[in-house]
Amino acid sequence: MDVILLGAPGAGKGTQAKVLEEHSGLVHVASGDLFRAALRQGTELGMLAKSYMDRGELVPDEVVIRMIMERIGQEDCARGVIFDGFPRTIEQATALTVELERQGRKLHHVLYLSVPTEMLLRRIAGRQTCKTCGSTYNIYYFPSKRPDVCDECGGRLYQRNDDTLETARYRLDVYFAQTMPLIEHYRKQGLLREIDGQREITQVTRTMLQLMERDGSHMQEPA
Ligand code: AP5
Ligand code: MG
Repeated sequence: MDVILLGAPGAGKGTQAKVLEEHSGLVHVASGDLFRAALRQGTELGMLAKSYMDRGELVPDEVVIRMIMERIGQEDCARGVIFDGFPRTIEQATALTVELERQGRKLHHVLYLSVPTEMLLRRIAGRQTCKTCGSTYNIYYFPSKRPDVCDECGGRLYQRNDDTLETARYRLDVYFAQTMPLIEHYRKQGLLREIDGQREITQVTRTMLQLMERDGSHMQEPA
């Protein structure tokens, strides 16, 4: 089973994908996380991506598509993937459909997290990310137990370079212009499931799991 989490920056894609991964056995593949990991490793791909990410612009389609296709061709992804942050353009969506078909797979759901703009900006402004394990917190909604220290692994929390208010606003403009057309694209295919992403994290998770269950998979609901 393959699932896309669609939503604006700050909608909760990464937060939800992490929990869904635990409950579904699917593999979480996040394009932004792959770029940030490449940057930490000092690769050419990481340096290239950084020049776009710091400005809040999309990395060129051919670069993203190549990276994601390589990732989903790996053995662990054969049991199914939760896509987070990919696709973000019609060209990326088309490339994904073609590749999944080539592998004899197909998309089961596109779960669209809908959140009002002011709330997105507040979430982004308050987000803290662990340098070591990538867990996310929020100083307004979901603070770590000790300031600037990850509850999961004790790693240092930092604010992403692209989480300034100015860049966040620009990322939202890019999302409205380039990624929102995917909502209609998947709606027409009958794959889109819209979820109210304003609610508490656990409530959003429960709805997502129910939708995945209803559409034919076998998930465990969180306790
Ligand atoms: P990426 O890393 O994908 O960032 P994004 O899409 O901008 O999304 P975010 O990670 O900001 O938000 P999220 O939805 O994951 O929210 P989160 O769960 O963290 O991309 C970064 C850059 O990489 C792009 O700008 C681009 O340059 C490049 N890139 C990546 N993919 C690309 C692609 N396919 N094509 C081209 N370029 C690409 O939650 C946010 C905060 O809110 C957290 O603090 C969290 O704790 C909190 N929160 C979450 N849910 C709730 C809730 N229900 N209630 C209260 N707080 C909540
Ligand atoms: Mg994310």
